[in-house]
Amino acid sequence: MDWGLKNRLSRMIKPTTGKSVMLAVDHGYFMGPTHGLEVPRTTIAPLLPYCDALALTRGVLRNCVDPGADVPILLRVSGGASVVGEDLSHEDITTSMEEAIRLNVAGVAMSVFIGSAHEHPTLVNLGKLVDEGERFGIPVVGITAVGKELQKRDSRYLSLASRLCAEMGAHVIKTYYCEEGFDKVVEGCPAPIVVAGGPKFKSDKEALELAHHAIEIGAVGVDMGRNIWQSEHPVAMIRGIRAIVHDKATVKEALDVMAEARQSAPRALSPTSPRPRASRG
Ligand code: R5P
Repeated sequence: MDWGLKNRLSRMIKPTTGKSVMLAVDHGYFMGPTHGLEVPRTTIAPLLPYCDALALTRGVLRNCVDPGADVPILLRVSGGASVVGEDLSHEDITTSMEEAIRLNVAGVAMSVFIGSAHEHPTLVNLGKLVDEGERFGIPVVGITAVGKELQKRDSRYLSLASRLCAEMGAHVIKTYYCEEGFDKVVEGCPAPIVVAGGPKFKSDKEALELAHHAIEIGAVGVDMGRNIWQSEHPVAMIRGIRAIVHDKATVKEALDVMAEARQSAPRALSPTSPRPRASRG
């Protein structure tokens, strides 16, 4: 690996712990203004101090993140399908490496859809993106997307998809955690793995457990979105996740960190939540 690429990678995966808490706020690229992310600037700002990288698209980056913010950017460069369209897997590269460099990113990320009608182009695109990444010193994160088929998240599928991304040369693999056989996913993947959180769990504790298991088994971090910013206490939640990822906290200890953080951090107030009534003067 060239110096620039290693340096960018180490901005996201912290050399002190070898771990990373990436905050995923790229969902709008196919979901639109999804719950909790209606006004990205409002969602992102309080969480910025606690993430090691911010995963998003160029549109949200330019419009909703202060260019003075000291946060490594993981730029999503694939897209082209929507949640209401016919085929979520029909993605292509939508942002050039030149644009990524202009935005001074720490890495780029794209989805591959193994087993879908678009497996071939997404895998070939990943290979090409890695070629460009190597040329310019930009790490590439390969995302093993499952579209709407959440049942695909078994270890057999995730091992295959993660390994394919690594074989294409992706520097980091973003995949899902699975309760059975995640050790096989990690073992069979020669590149470091970060796990997505997936749809919001009923409780924050379940998301902490997911992070804890994934780290214990060998993931180098999380790239988590909805379980953080759809939590009633997003700042407390990301701090709990950090405790697990960076400080080897147990779930119980992370819950304690959250309880303490809740004392000082305000609850999330989504733009669609009822606003407190103004009191009459
Ligand atoms: C979704 O397509 C994006 O890749 C998300 O960044 C990813 O799923 C992580 O977010 P979440 O934890 O909400 O699943």
